[in-house]
Amino acid sequence: MIKAVILGTGSCLPEKTLSNADLERIVETSDEWITSRTGIRNRRVAGRDEQNYQLATKAARRALAVTGIEPEELDLIVVATISPHMIMPSTACFVQAELGAVNAFAYDISAACAGFTYGLDLASNYIRNRPDMKILLIGAETLSARVNWEDRNTCVLFGDGAGAVIVAGSNDGRGVFGSNLRADGKLWNLLYMDSPESYNPDLRRDEWQGPFIRMNGSDIFKHAVRLMEDAVTSLLRQHDLTIDDVDLMIPHQANIRILKNLRERLGIPEERVFVNLSQYGNTSAASIPIALDEAHRQGRMARGDIVLLCTFGGGLTWGSLLMRW
Ligand code: UT7
Repeated sequence: MIKAVILGTGSCLPEKTLSNADLERIVETSDEWITSRTGIRNRRVAGRDEQNYQLATKAARRALAVTGIEPEELDLIVVATISPHMIMPSTACFVQAELGAVNAFAYDISAACAGFTYGLDLASNYIRNRPDMKILLIGAETLSARVNWEDRNTCVLFGDGAGAVIVAGSNDGRGVFGSNLRADGKLWNLLYMDSPESYNPDLRRDEWQGPFIRMNGSDIFKHAVRLMEDAVTSLLRQHDLTIDDVDLMIPHQANIRILKNLRERLGIPEERVFVNLSQYGNTSAASIPIALDEAHRQGRMARGDIVLLCTFGGGLTWGSLLMRW
């Protein structure tokens, strides 16, 4: 049976690093608080020539280079993002133009931190219908433009970056073989980013200051641990697997304490969970593809390994996905 495999990965992080010490000069916070509560030490901040689509395009070029696939061979480009370059056209269209991927159709998806996992499931379903497709899937964010730099509850958490994968069909037993994607829109106001353009002019609020991320951190924390655990255990059960069968788990990188809680509940040892949170912070839809690229380059996945993704974000959106590498 044809399944969707990842042929190549790539990532791109902005040049500028913002450390916890730098943040101490911006808001009332401390390296000690940020490190102990989140595990984050640094995050990257995009400069003028590092707009979302530019980071996305560089990540894509790196992924394409690994595979030897030319941009003209791509059939579809999907960008998962909550910080698109513009509302219209999609960031994926900008990437298509930059790459010269003239034969690809292109669109964005919005599922917050779960965007890449939603996108990989989508790509897998395309491949099931059209096994010859070559799909470029990117998670890319410039959240530094969307955080309120006066709000210490959020500005210390997020970072910029992009990760990309090339997905194609294969019948050698590898590829995506299961997913469990979920959403609960009733809990939207635990984590959101609105903008005045979204409202009827009569409804626009005077106090609105910008398209900022707003979050109820402690509620999100509790939901994240419980819902990701549930998404993973039910998916494993569905495939007659246990956590011991998983060679590497690549979770969304939001908070080291969330990951520790999740690890303990699932009973997976630390060495089988990939974590790079301390260097990049929470890059939302970009976090898993950046981690995938780093894990791949560090040789953390061998051919045939079972890789588990799990994720959680605004929406609420969350889920898990299994693939044989
Ligand atoms: O990407 C997916 C979605 N996002 C997440 O998964 C994030 C989930 N949530 C979290 O990571 C954590 O809840 C946070 C890191 C955001 C907060 O950690 P917490 O242990 O839940 O702290 P808290 O929100 O309960 O706040 C504790 C205290 C508060 O002070 P008071 O009210 O107790 O006096 C905050 O004002 O820490 C204060 N605080 C800070 N202090 C220093 C909040 N942010 C900071 C800060 N520096 N940056």
